[in-house]
This record gives sequence, C-alpha cells and structure tokens, in this order.
Amino acid sequence: MKLNYFACFSTLAATVSSQLLVLPFGRHPASDERPLKMDPVGPGGPSAPSAQGGVILSDVMGKERSVNIFAGFTRDVVSISHRLDDSSQNSTILAPLNSAIEKLPRKPWEDARDYETLGTNAYEGGDGQERAQRNIRRFVEAHVVPSSPWQEREKVKTLLGDREVWWESKDGKKLIQPDNIEVDSVASQVGNGEVWIIRGVRNYS
Ligand SMILES: *[C@@H]1O[C@H](CO)[C@@H](O)[C@H](O)[C@H]1NC(C)=O
Repeated sequence: MKLNYFACFSTLAATVSSQLLVLPFGRHPASDERPLKMDPVGPGGPSAPSAQGGVILSDVMGKERSVNIFAGFTRDVVSISHRLDDSSQNSTILAPLNSAIEKLPRKPWEDARDYETLGTNAYEGGDGQERAQRNIRRFVEAHVVPSSPWQEREKVKTLLGDREVWWESKDGKKLIQPDNIEVDSVASQVGNGEVWIIRGVRNYS
C-alpha cells in the first residue's frame, strides 16, 4: 500500500513538490502520528483549550503558509501536537521556512547514519517507516524550545535535549545561536507560546 504521507494536509499537497516530501511508504495505523485534530482527548488527558477560550499554538501553527511543511510535521508527531494543544505548557516554536527545509541536502526524515548502517533500503518496510518517523520527531523536537517567553541570551535545551540554544539581537535582527539562524519574524504570540519563523534549519545530532 502506497499512500502519500501528507495526503491529509491538503495545503501541503497543493504547495509542496511531491518529489521532495513524499515518504517512500504509506501510513501505518499504529504509528506515532495522528491524522488531524479529530480526537480532542489525548493520552495525557483532556486539554480542551478552546473550551477555555484562549488561542493557543495548535490553533495558529497551520496559519502561516511559509512554514506549512514544518506545521505539518508538528501535527504528525503525537507528543508535539499534544504539547501545542496544551494551554498549560509554553513553547517557542522555531519554525523553519519551507524554503529552508527544501534546501536541505537530505529530507528531514533521513539520517546519514541510517544509510551508513542500512544502505539505500533504510526507509523501506515497517521498520523503515518507524525510522523515518523517529527522525521526523527528532527534527521537530530540535525546533521546539520548551519555554515562552524566551528571554534574550537565555540558554535552553530544545525538546530534543541536544546542545543549548539561545538568541541575541544584532543590527535589529534576532539570531538563534550558536547556529546564527536569522529569525524572519515572530508570526504568532498566543496563550501557550510563540511561533518564530526562522530562515534556516538547526544543526543537531
Ligand atoms: C506562558 O505564556 C503566557 C503568554 O505569554 C504567559 O503569560 C505566561 O506567564 C507563561 N507561563 C510561563 C510559566 O512561562
């Protein structure tokens, strides 16, 4: 069964080259993803943010077309989509521009180490699919700072837990350090955090 991995994201399907962002296999029902916000109650209990009236990250994440590839990934990783849906957990989302993701030498679900150990079939079959989903989760986690407001020069670890990141202003720009990634704009400020659109992808491992 071959399905377009992003078939449920009509915006993506419409705007993103299928060459670039179609995983080489179909969705798996038991995998770490959920299709859309059909299920308001997650494993962590009810989040029901809308019932409390405030706008939160899950409401705004998909609004910026310039980052809709990354927004699709956040919906696709259960732990992240629950976090963005939880009004009691603040995050600063570092959302790379579509153009930055498209420029990557490898797709975000590919890891050079998988190819080294497993060869060109690294992402085939059920194991391959799990591997790709794990890599996507790591990619997303590397771009979620688990606090907001995030103060200038405040060193934090992203959800991935790799090296610390911080930001500083320089010549009127915000730069994410240590990778020197320019913040294009702060797209949203809502009850449980902010979405920062960034012009590059973090270098993590
Ligand atoms: C979470 O973000 C909101 C909105 O910016 C802020 O009012 C609140 O103090 C933050 N909570 C924490 C624990 O940082």
